Amino acid sequence: MPLIPLRPVLEAAETHGYAQGAFNVNAVCQAKAVIEVHEMLRSPAILQGADLANAFMGGRTDFQNGTLEDKKKGAKNIADAVRKYGEQSPIPVVLHLDHGRDFDSCVAAIEGGYTSVMIDGSSLPYEENVELTREVVKYAHPRGVSVEGELGVLAGVEDHVFAQNSTYTNPLTAVDFLKKTGVDALAISYGTMHGASKGKDVKLRREIPIAIRECMSHEGIRAFLVSHGSSTVPQYIVQEINALGGEIQNAYGISKEELKAAIPCGIRKINVDTDIRLAVTRNLRELFRDCPELKADPVVGPIWTLLDEKRAAFDPRAFLPPIMDTVMYGTGEGEALARITGAIERGVKEAVGTLIVEFGSVGRYPLVRMDTLETMIRRYKEGV
Ligand code: G3H
Ligand code: 13P
Ligand code: ZN
Repeated sequence: MPLIPLRPVLEAAETHGYAQGAFNVNAVCQAKAVIEVHEMLRSPAILQGADLANAFMGGRTDFQNGTLEDKKKGAKNIADAVRKYGEQSPIPVVLHLDHGRDFDSCVAAIEGGYTSVMIDGSSLPYEENVELTREVVKYAHPRGVSVEGELGVLAGVEDHVFAQNSTYTNPLTAVDFLKKTGVDALAISYGTMHGASKGKDVKLRREIPIAIRECMSHEGIRAFLVSHGSSTVPQYIVQEINALGGEIQNAYGISKEELKAAIPCGIRKINVDTDIRLAVTRNLRELFRDCPELKADPVVGPIWTLLDEKRAAFDPRAFLPPIMDTVMYGTGEGEALARITGAIERGVKEAVGTLIVEFGSVGRYPLVRMDTLETMIRRYKEGV
C-alpha cells in the first residue's frame, strides 16, 4: 500500500478515542525498525523526519548548517526508505515533515515523497504565521498532502527557536488560526517541552486542549491537536547510559500518566524523538562494552571514538558520521556493521513499542481509511 497522508490516521484516532505516536527517524535502519514494531503491534504508523534530519540524511554531518539542496536529497533518502519498508506492509504508514522551517523546506519534503508536512511558524508574529501556514496549505492540499501548523511557543530548543519560557496557546487564537489556515493538525503549547531536560514532575495544562476542542466543535472545525516535546525520558535508560560511561544530567520527561490523561482531552498525535535517541545511545554504548573488539574495527571503531569523546551527547547523529552510507541508503556489509544497525533497531523498537502500547494505538490499523494522496486530493477539494 502506498504511503498515506496524516489526516485519515488522526481521524481514526479521534473517532475511537486514542492517540497516535509520531516518531522521529534519522537513518534508514531507524525507519525500518519503526515500521516493523508498528506492524508487530498492528498499529498505524507516523514516521517523522525533522527539517534537520533531512539535512543529515542528505549527507550533512553538520546538519545544523544544511542547505535546501541537502534537505532535498535527504528528504528523498528518507522517503525511499520509508516506501521500501512501508509499501510492503499491511499497516497504513505516514511520512510527516517535522518542524518545517519555511515554505521551501515543505516543498522539498513533498517533492521527496513526504505525505504530510508541518510548517512551524510559531516564532513569527501571528499574522505572518497565518500567512505562511496558509501558503503551505494552498500548496499541499491540492497534492493530497496534510498540513500541521503550530501556535504558541514551547520552552527549550525547538529547531530554530529558543524560548526561555513557554507561551501557552491561547484557545481563542487557536480557533482563529484553524479557521484562517485550514490546517489538518495543530501543535499546541500546554506545558510540554523539547529535549531531555523538561524538569521534574511537569504538569500539563489539560484545560488548554479541552478549551480549544470545545471552541472547535462550536465552530464546526474538524482538525486534530498535537503534543510536541512529549518524550518520557525513561529513568532506567538514563541511568544505564551513565553507568556505561555517559554523562547525562538533569534528564526528566513528561510522565506517561500526564500524557495519557491528555488523550481524552483531545490530543491525537504525540511527538517523540528524545526517548528514541536515548535508547539508541544506550544500546551503542552497551554493544561496545560487550564486544570490545569492535573498538578496533576499521568500519565501526570510529563510532566508539565519538561515543568516548562525547559523553554528554545522546543524539545518535553525533556518533554515526563514520557510517553515512548506511545511515542514508541502508548499504554496507559485514558483521560489525550488522551489529551496529541491530543495536540501533532494537533501541528504536524498545522506545517506540512502549509508547504505542501506552498511547493506545495497538491493534487499530484496520480502523484507518486507506486514503491515498489521490483520494485525499478529491476529499480536500470537496471538503469531505
Ligand atoms: O522537535 C524536534 C526534533 O526533536 C528535532 O530534531 O535536531 O532533527 O531538528 P532535529
Ligand atoms: P521530544 O524532544 O520530547 O522527543 O519531542 C520531540 C518532538 O516534539 C518532535 O517534533
Ligand atoms: Zn516538536
